[in-house]
This record gives sequence, C-alpha cells and structure tokens, in this order.
Amino acid sequence: MRISDRLSRLKPSATLAVNTKAQELRAQGREIVSLAVGQPDFGTPKHVSDAAKAALDEGFTRYTPVPGIPELREAVAAYYGRFYGATAKADNAIVSNGGKQVLYNLLMALVNPGDEVLVPAPYWVSYPAMIELAEGRCVTVPTDAEHDFLVTVEQLEAARTDRTRVLILNSPSNPTGCCYTQDQLDQIAQWALKHDVFIISDEVYDRLVYAPAKPATLAKFWETHPESCALVGALSKSFCMTGWRIGWALAADDLVKAMGKIQGQSTSNVSSFSQKAATVALNGSWDIVDEMKVAFLRRRDIAHEIITSWGAVCPKPDGAFYLFPVLDRFYTDDAPDSATMCTKILEQAGVALVPGSAFGDDRCIRFSYAVDDDTLRSALEAVGNVLMK
Ligand SMILES: Cc1ncc(COP(=O)(O)O)c(C=O)c1O
Repeated sequence: MRISDRLSRLKPSATLAVNTKAQELRAQGREIVSLAVGQPDFGTPKHVSDAAKAALDEGFTRYTPVPGIPELREAVAAYYGRFYGATAKADNAIVSNGGKQVLYNLLMALVNPGDEVLVPAPYWVSYPAMIELAEGRCVTVPTDAEHDFLVTVEQLEAARTDRTRVLILNSPSNPTGCCYTQDQLDQIAQWALKHDVFIISDEVYDRLVYAPAKPATLAKFWETHPESCALVGALSKSFCMTGWRIGWALAADDLVKAMGKIQGQSTSNVSSFSQKAATVALNGSWDIVDEMKVAFLRRRDIAHEIITSWGAVCPKPDGAFYLFPVLDRFYTDDAPDSATMCTKILEQAGVALVPGSAFGDDRCIRFSYAVDDDTLRSALEAVGNVLMK
C-alpha cells in the first residue's frame, strides 16, 4: 500500500503504544494497573447524560451548524465571563471534536509551510505531530523540573527567529500538572505581543487547579487582543466527558471562520446530542468539579510523597492529575531510557506508565493519579520496588 510521505513521517502516539502492551499482558492473564490514563476516573454527571437522552428522545439527531448550535456557542462565551470575568460573543466560539480537533484546526488555520511554532517541553504529545501535519517547524524549548517545567520569557526570546509565528502554552500542563501564575502568563503574553507571536493557550485543564493556586488564563488578554491569541477549552477533563468530544476555541471572528472552513470540509458539526448535553453542563452547576478536586488533591499528595521518598526530583504541581518525576538516575543497562524503563515496570510491576520521551523529556516518566487511593498506593509501591532493585 502506498501511504503518503506526510504520514510516513508521522510518529504513532506513544501513549497508545503503552496501552497496546498493557492489553497484551492482560490478554495473557496478568493483572495490570494503569497509571497511564489521561481521563478522570469519575463518571459524567447525571444531569448532563439526562440532557443527551432528552435530546435523542426529542429527535435532535440531525446535522447542526458546523461551528456549533447557537446556545452552546453562547454558553462557551458565557463560560469566560462566569469564571474569568471576560466578555466574549458567541461568534467568537467554535465547537469541535474535543480540544484535540480545536488544536488541529487552529494550527491548520495559522501555520504556513516553514513557519516556526514554539513549544515548551515537556509538551502534550500531539503538538509536534499536528505542527508537522500543518507543514510547520516545531521548535521545542526545554524546561526543567527545578523550575516546575515552566518556560520563561528569556528562554522564549532565545528560541525566537524571524520565522516564529506561534507559541503553544499549556497550563495546567499535561504531562507535568504544573501551572503558570497569572503574572507569568501575562508576562509571556506581553512578550508575544511585542514580537507578533500568536499564542495558542491550551487551557483544557483550567478548572482542575488546586487551592490556594488559582487558574491562570489568557481570557482577559484575549478580550483586549483577540487577534493575538486563541484559547482552547474542553469539557473532557473538567467535566469527565472525554468520550463526548466537546472542545472549543475562543478566537477572533476571522479565525473562527477559518477554523469553520476546515471543520466544514472534514468533520462538520460535533455530535448533535453531545452539544445539547454540553450546553447543560456549561450553564449548570460546577459543584461536581469541586468534589473531584478534593479527591485529586488527596491523591496528588499520596503520590508525591511516595515518589519523592525514592529520592526523585518531582515538582508538586497545582493542577491536572499527573506527576512527572525525573527518574533517569534509576535507568539501567537493560532499561537505559524512559521507554524501556516503562516496559520493564510494566512487565515486572504490572503498572502501565507513559515514558517521558513521548512528551519530549526522556529523563522523566508520567504518572497519572486518576485511580482510587489504594490502587494508587499499591501501584506506586510496586514501581518503587522495580526502580530500587
Ligand atoms: C493538554 C491537552 N490538550 C488537549 C487535549 C485534548 O483533549 P480532548 O480529549 O478534549 O480532545 C488533551 C487530552 O489529553 C490534553 O492533555
């Protein structure tokens, strides 16, 4: 079969590779605990599922406008007022199949061949692949655990060239869970503005930030500089709706139209009844998120205590549900990098993790704590035994 050059250059998703190996072992009868998951272990709130059922019963099962039903676009715009005090219009919102399609559409709409896109590393797995598909050049900017894996204006300036067009920021971060403060984010925004670098701010974990830390957002910056940034949001993580495929961008009118053009020629609208459910989620109570945060915070502390007891450097992050410790001092001749170490841990401890190389930092391994407390404790103890053998 002749597959296009574009695709043969593209790397398969490393997170999928871990899951495949874990499934193989499970098929052989091994009990495998997954700390590789990228979704909350809580269910979608009932009132949201009920809204989808009602939509189906009412026959709301046909095509909708490509950028989303008007009431959902209104609800997205209102979200930024409700949580961040920013004013936005429904016309500035476009709803896509998860944050993932939003990011893809944004990059396709913004990047010309050869344009450089700055991506602080560690980064979410799909950014480099999407940039490549848009024929841009991914310029990674390495950060380190000692500084909570946060990029500085100085580091960005050192990586900037005449071809730099876009910067992708992600706070809270997948894979590190680390968050920028509002001040840090604002400083980066001012730098970007000065150098005409467009910011894609991936804020899909924005509601999963643990007090006393507060969510930082470019919502207010967008309000005053809509031509200079776009915000990416989703219900996937914050509202336990990964399978519903609801994400959105808040962007300037022209950019929303451009993204609508791509979406209109590729996938059209997001599932009609998912959109109805998402409208109810966005407009209703967010108490469920507070309950979930109590559990995540407790688990973060459990996991952080165990991991640092190994002597590993690991920032204690304020958001999402991941820890990203530096574990290269435990790498061995038979497991000299994060991928082989993850395979060894999977085989010997029965715990699935994601190698840091998938996120652009081979010194680290990603641990998700979206599992119950006891499972988390016993899985981490088993991992510690392999590392310290
Ligand atoms: C940082 C980040 N951005 C975007 C996404 C995509 O989210 P969605 O499931 O809404 O497509 C993910 C999902 O893992 C993510 O971690």
